[in-house]
Amino acid sequence: MADGKKLFIKTYGCQMNVYDSERMAEALAPEGYSQTQDASEADLILLNTCHIREKAAEKVYSELGRLKPLKAANPDLKIGVAGCVAQAEGEEITARQPMVDLVVGPQSYHRLPEMLARTQSGRRAIDTEFPEEDKFARLGARSTRGMPTAFLTVQEGCDKFCAFCVVPYTRGAEVSRPVAQVMAEARELTARGVREITLLGQNVNAYHGADESATWGLGRLLRALARIEGLERIRYTTSHPNDMDDDLIAAHADCAEVMPYLHLPVQSGSDRILKAMNRKHTAAQYLDLIARIRSARPDILLSGDFIVGFPGETERDFADTLALVEAVGYGQAYSFKYSPRPGTPAAEKPEIAADVASDRLQRLQALLADQQAAAQRAMVGRETAVLFEKPGREPGQLVGKSEYLQAVHALAPADMIGQIARVRITAAAPHSLAGELVAVSEPV
Ligand code: 5AD
Ligand code: SF4
Repeated sequence: MADGKKLFIKTYGCQMNVYDSERMAEALAPEGYSQTQDASEADLILLNTCHIREKAAEKVYSELGRLKPLKAANPDLKIGVAGCVAQAEGEEITARQPMVDLVVGPQSYHRLPEMLARTQSGRRAIDTEFPEEDKFARLGARSTRGMPTAFLTVQEGCDKFCAFCVVPYTRGAEVSRPVAQVMAEARELTARGVREITLLGQNVNAYHGADESATWGLGRLLRALARIEGLERIRYTTSHPNDMDDDLIAAHADCAEVMPYLHLPVQSGSDRILKAMNRKHTAAQYLDLIARIRSARPDILLSGDFIVGFPGETERDFADTLALVEAVGYGQAYSFKYSPRPGTPAAEKPEIAADVASDRLQRLQALLADQQAAAQRAMVGRETAVLFEKPGREPGQLVGKSEYLQAVHALAPADMIGQIARVRITAAAPHSLAGELVAVSEPV
């Protein structure tokens, strides 16, 4: 066993990559690797990459360029590319950057130790297969880095094939982890002090994991997780509107542990564009769904994703998107300029002018920022439950999250990290809230 080696991981993209980076570090710990935040002292550098938009994918090549001097200074340093760029581009990466020793797709992370062994003998290791064996069953025990919050991937891949999206190609078909495996991981995390778990999946609400006798939907899984002692908060992301079934909506009303925050991307408010995107629902159906979710949980804070400048988008289509945003009232949202991805159906279509797309993005972002600011201001004077996560910037301050996933800072003793406290919000900024401690919530 190679003891005392240092691992530097840089993570790009989504929360699933954050989870995957943690699992890679856990897979390499038995090989003697501990993590460092300093790339220059690393024996192994892994870039966990994202392919969702062109800019995200190009970042990996710029970063590899920056790492060149480190490799020149230390020929024993191994450099690996993981994640969706690895999956999508495979050997092309080593053609563009021959110093790369290892290319590993998201389904092969459990094979990292043997791949690394191959690189130690001077060979290159590339694995972008979709192996038969259960990656999760082989990844080993969880560590939590002392944080009271954790991610837990319950589902991977996507069968939706939205016309703009690479995920069905890079992450493959939808696969759900078995119920028993998810429950065991959640119990393990809770036993290590985790109070809040965010269930992850590219299309998490399509979860259909099996137990001995049945297939469970996400609603049923949430109810079972909510019964784990010590697990006080559950979130999930990211969801497709068509997979929000009645049982899942009802879980928002029935389970206090299911937090009143939902990221439910719609991408566009124009029926014509939704159809061209292959989203398989209309704007009216989305609005109806939002109304049903709000009647289950009236205070829910909604978040979404939007793409502007999809091929063929007219000013009228864009006006429909603005109208949908007005109708929903988001507390938080992400918006992107359309980026053609190789191999997707939309990439075949003529693009709209870049300046038109940029202008629309600015207008949409201005509206979303107004809505977010209003949601933040609406918290002032209210009491909310905050799970404290870590020390804040000011002395004596802790930072945590409200039920609505807003960052909140308050003066509180350090031993309250990991606890949920009532906080009265006294001030709001666009991305954080300030508050005062009211009382520590009693365990039920
Ligand atoms: N161009 C721009 N945005 C995209 N997204 C996915 N694919 C593309 C693309 N080709 C956005 C969607 C999705 C989020 C994760 O990224 O809004 O919900
Ligand atoms: Fe991509 Fe999400 Fe559509 Fe799946 S549902 S293809 S992950 S945008």
